[in-house]
Amino acid sequence: MGTTILKGKKVLITAGPTREAIDPVRFISNHSSGKMGYAIAQAFLQQGAEVILVSGPVCIKTETHQRLKIVQVQSASEMYLACCQYFEDTDIAIFAAAVADYRPERVSEQKIKKQDDSFTIKMVKNVDIAFEFGRIKNELQVSVGFALETNDELAHAIGKLDKKNLDMAVLNSVNDANATFGFDTNKITIITKDYLQKAFPLKSKQEVAHDIVVETAACLTNKESWFTDDSIVAYENMYR
Ligand code: PMT
Repeated sequence: MGTTILKGKKVLITAGPTREAIDPVRFISNHSSGKMGYAIAQAFLQQGAEVILVSGPVCIKTETHQRLKIVQVQSASEMYLACCQYFEDTDIAIFAAAVADYRPERVSEQKIKKQDDSFTIKMVKNVDIAFEFGRIKNELQVSVGFALETNDELAHAIGKLDKKNLDMAVLNSVNDANATFGFDTNKITIITKDYLQKAFPLKSKQEVAHDIVVETAACLTNKESWFTDDSIVAYENMYR
C-alpha cells in the first residue's frame, strides 16, 4: 500500500546500462538489466515522491504514472546531460545505473571492416555522474550511489562514498549468489557517511528498493532537521 512520507519530494534515479558506440552497429556495454533502478523508482512512487528515471536501454515495461517521468538515453554522456536538467530541483539522487567508465575516443561513421588479426580501440574517460552531483549538491540534497564490486568490497565502497561525496553507498557484490546483474533478487549493505554499515539478507529487488527508500528518507529527514533555521544558527554559533 502506498503512503505519502515523501510527498512533494523530487527524486532523480539513474538505471540500467549505458551503450558506448564503436560504429553504427556496435557498442560497448554491460549486463545491467535496469531491474534494480526501476524497482527503486516504483518504491519512491509508493511513498508519494515525484520521480525522474533516467534510463539506459532496458527491456522493462513500465505503467505510466502521473508522478513518473522516464528519460531514455543510450550513452554515459547522454545520461549525464539528462541528469543535468534535473539536478538542481532534486531532493534525492539515486545512482543505480551501471555507467561505462570509458567510451571509444572515436566513433566510426561507417561499419568497421574486418582486416587485421588484432584491433585496438582507444578509450577515453566518461564523466562520472555521481561524482559531479556530489561536487555541486547543496547541504539538503541527498545522494546515494551503488558500489558494484568483485573484491575488497567494503574498502572500495567506502572509497566511492568518500570520493563521490555520497550520503549513502549501497554495496552489492557479484560474489553473492543471485545478486546484482539481471537477477530478481539482490543482497546489499548500506554504508552511511559516518561509515555505519547495515547488512541486509538476500531479498527481492522490490524489497531491497523499499529498504533503500526507508534509509534514504531517514537521511533526508536528518538533514532537514539539522538544517532548519534554528539549527543553522546553532551550528554557526559552534564555530564562533
Ligand atoms: O540493473 P540490474 O540488472 O538490476 O543490476 C543492478 C546493478 C548491479 C547494476 C546495481 O545494483 C548497481 O550496482 N549499480 C551500479 C553499478 C556500477 O556501475 O557501479 P560502480 O561501482 O562502477 O559505480 C559507482 C557509482 O557511481 C554508481 O552509483 C554508478 O551509478 C555511479 N557512476 C559510475 C560511473 C560513472 N561514469 N557515472 C556514475 O554515476
